Amino acid sequence: MRGAGLLLCLATLATTGCGTREARRHAGTPEDPWVIGMSQCNLGEPWRVQMDADVRAAAAAHPDLRVIFKDAQNNSLTQRAQVEELVEQGVDVIIISPKEAAPLTQPVAEAYRRGTPVIVLDRAVQGDQFTAFIGADNVRIGREAGRWIRERLRGRGRIVELKGLMTSTPGQDRNRGFLEGVDLEHNRGLQLVFTGEMQWLEPNARREMESALATNPRIDAVYAHNDPGAHGAWLAARAAGREKEMLFVGIDALPHEGRQYVAQGILDATFLYPTGGAEAIESALTVLRGGTVPKHLTLGTRLFTRETVAAGGQAIN
Ligand code: FRU
Repeated sequence: MRGAGLLLCLATLATTGCGTREARRHAGTPEDPWVIGMSQCNLGEPWRVQMDADVRAAAAAHPDLRVIFKDAQNNSLTQRAQVEELVEQGVDVIIISPKEAAPLTQPVAEAYRRGTPVIVLDRAVQGDQFTAFIGADNVRIGREAGRWIRERLRGRGRIVELKGLMTSTPGQDRNRGFLEGVDLEHNRGLQLVFTGEMQWLEPNARREMESALATNPRIDAVYAHNDPGAHGAWLAARAAGREKEMLFVGIDALPHEGRQYVAQGILDATFLYPTGGAEAIESALTVLRGGTVPKHLTLGTRLFTRETVAAGGQAIN
């Protein structure tokens, strides 16, 4: 830390603690529990409902914790305001799963600098002004998906990629990893014939896929950045009577969503994207009790295919 920052930090240490050791607002007892503010970017998506449920379940085991949930309804400006509200309310820790990296960077950094520990979940912000980031390695998941498709197609075929929101880090990372995994340069028989940005949403994926189908007489595989996207693509292909022509691969693998689609023969593969909800509560507790947590906690993934889904998929090492 350089001069001015250090001085400012020392000056505020007594009251706020430079974002690392902050004054406690609640006692952390069942009578006066610590308060965690959970800022969710959009509860209109099943995976995010699961994340909040995981946070709620993990917190329920601790009578010294209370969680306030906020839903930004897929709007970065709303989410920004909600983070500011949580700080004003004097919560002891903020957990945030941001919609987009750039617009949420400043409010997260501001909360952190003012002494509220911030745990960022699943989608990243820019820089390092937060307490900890928890999430799976999206480049790796994308790479595994790309490799799986390349191997299944034996190096020959026409591929559609339906991207998530490209202003969010998982969209960027799942795209980058996928391109590494399919390795078009060394597999000249593979072609990326269509890419569309469905922004994580099934109806958008369905629309994008309608365009892909209309302009491509043959498609061999669809890689969607999440399971709602893969399902939307399948719906479009089925409406065109072409769903048997191609493989469908998604990401998330919720038990009642992606895994079920695989078991039903709708998707061919899905990769687990853990919510990190329980880990976020554990990290929050560690911080609240005065301990330290790693700046980055990387969660693992699993592959579910028609062959493995019933047995719980397979670990990816
Ligand atoms: C839900 C979601 C998941 C996806 C994650 C990426 O909003 O789109 O389907 O895996 O966000 O951040």
